[in-house]
This record gives sequence, C-alpha cells and structure tokens, in this order.
Amino acid sequence: MATFPFSSALVTGASSGIGEAMVELLAGTGVHTVVVARRGDRLETLAERFSAVEVLAADLTTAEGLAAVEARVCSTERPIDLVVNNAGFGTSGLFHELDADRLQQEIQLNIGALTRLSHAALATMLPRGRGYLLNVSSVASFQSAPKLAVYAATKAYVTSLTESLHEEARGTGVHVTALCPGLTRTEFQSVSNTEEYTTQYPKFAWLTSQEVAAGGLRDVAKGKCLSVPGAIYKGLVGVTGVTPRGMARRLAGLVQRG
Ligand SMILES: NC(=O)c1ccc[n+]([C@@H]2O[C@H](COP(=O)([O-])OP(=O)(O)OC[C@H]3O[C@@H](n4cnc5c(N)ncnc54)[C@H](OP(=O)(O)O)[C@@H]3O)[C@@H](O)[C@H]2O)c1
Repeated sequence: MATFPFSSALVTGASSGIGEAMVELLAGTGVHTVVVARRGDRLETLAERFSAVEVLAADLTTAEGLAAVEARVCSTERPIDLVVNNAGFGTSGLFHELDADRLQQEIQLNIGALTRLSHAALATMLPRGRGYLLNVSSVASFQSAPKLAVYAATKAYVTSLTESLHEEARGTGVHVTALCPGLTRTEFQSVSNTEEYTTQYPKFAWLTSQEVAAGGLRDVAKGKCLSVPGAIYKGLVGVTGVTPRGMARRLAGLVQRG
C-alpha cells in the first residue's frame, strides 16, 4: 500500500470515477480527506466506508458552493496538505450545435472553479512553505479536438495554468502537478455523450480510474510537473510534441470524422 507525504487532502469530483478512486487510495491509508461533489448521498456512502472522510456537498458552478469549498481549502485550523481539482465534464458534438448554457457551465467548472481553488490553495500553502496541488487536465490538452472543442480548450487552459504555477512554486516547498489522463472508463462517457468511444477505441487504449488515480497521486508526491498515466499516452504526448501543428490538427480532424 502506498504511503503519502500528505496527512490531509481535499478532492473535488469525489462521487465517481477518478476522484472516487483517489479518495479510496487516500482515505484507505488514513489521509483525512474532504470529499466534494453535488451528489451528497454518494459522498455519505464513501464516508461510511472510511473513517477519515469528511463530506462537503457542493455545486462548484454556484457562487455559494464554490465559496464553501474555498473556505475549507483556506482553513488554518484544519489545514489541507493536498488539493485535487478533479471535478470536470465534457461536451461532444459540433460546437455550433451544442447548448450554449451547457458550454458556459463546462467553462465555469473546468476553468472557473479550478482557477479559484488553485488560487485558494496556493495562497494558503505558500506562506506555510509546504503543500501539494494536483489539477486534473487531459491528454486532449495537447492538441485540437474537433467535436470536443470546448472540452479540449478548457483542458489546454488547465495544463498551461498548472505548468506556469509549477514554475512559480519551484523551490518553495509547494508542488504543483497537472494530471493528464487518456481514455478512462468512468461516468465521463455518459455525461459527455461519448459512449461510442467504448467501441470505437481498442481495449488497450482504456485506462482504469484506479490506474489514473494512483499515477496522479504518485507524481504529485514526487513533485512532477506533468503526470501522464500509461505507456501508450506517454508515447502519444511525446509524438504530439514533435509533430508539426498543422499535421496534428488534420489527424485529429480525421480521427473524429471516422
Ligand atoms: N474519463 C476520461 O476519459 C477522462 C480523460 C481525461 C481527463 N478526464 C478528467 O478527469 C476528471 C474526472 O472525470 P471522471 O472521468 O472521473 O468523470 P466522472 O466519473 O463523470 O466524475 C466527474 C466528477 O465531477 C463531479 N462534478 C460534476 N459537476 C460538478 C459540479 N458542478 N460541482 C461539483 N462537482 C461536480 C461529479 O460529481 P456530481 O455529479 O456528484 O457533482 C463527479 O464526481 C475530469 O476533470 C475529466 O475531465 C477524464
């Protein structure tokens, strides 16, 4: 069983998928973990399984929900060592055909809430001289993604912001990491309407939420800037980095059209 350099954590999007798998790893080793999501019943079930779980049900797209989580991140009486900004969702389809309000919510959650909570985390951790921030991005952040345009753009923001914050925090005792998973079987596919991916992409392309969660927690503990779980995705990100931008864009368009 892994041991972590954090004794307390806060994980957003903890009611399913990657976030829930992170809570299982953290709370399973006795790390006091604050769990955040809208579905309070799911969070209560987690709290029944682990004594170290504290429930904070909140909708991060509302001012009230975001303020409650921000206040918990900033608490000096009950300090949080690790903040994981994991809550997020995608929208798939042609940009002009998608619901504009839904896209707005996606930006509010994937970018707005993540930025606010990253700010709260670093403003609290830097004076303390220690702490860990893990922002969940995606391999989609490294390239254009037709029919997932807003989602990929929000994740490009997350990777860019997190890489900059990693450098700002260098040498301070605070570690900032972007976790960039590839295809991972979770509720993401039903929420983002990408269930056809399960048959479209081969089995070996799929990661489990447990693999992704373990990789992200291991890499933030090591102070890495980017965490890309799975050999196939490490290779893909490497190749994308050296592929001419126009070619990568055309390939992404062809894959989505297929
Ligand atoms: N699965 C993939 O293939 C994949 C690949 C790359 C990156 N990612 C990223 O990984 C992260 C986790 O996604 P997942 O795959 O684990 O999907 P998931 O199973 O759908 O989990 C998403 C989590 O976000 C929470 N959430 C959604 N809207 C929220 C809101 N307004 N306020 C608070 N919490 C909210 C959900 O809980 P409630 O519904 O209870 O609020 C849920 O716990 C996301 O940032 C996603 O973009 C996923």
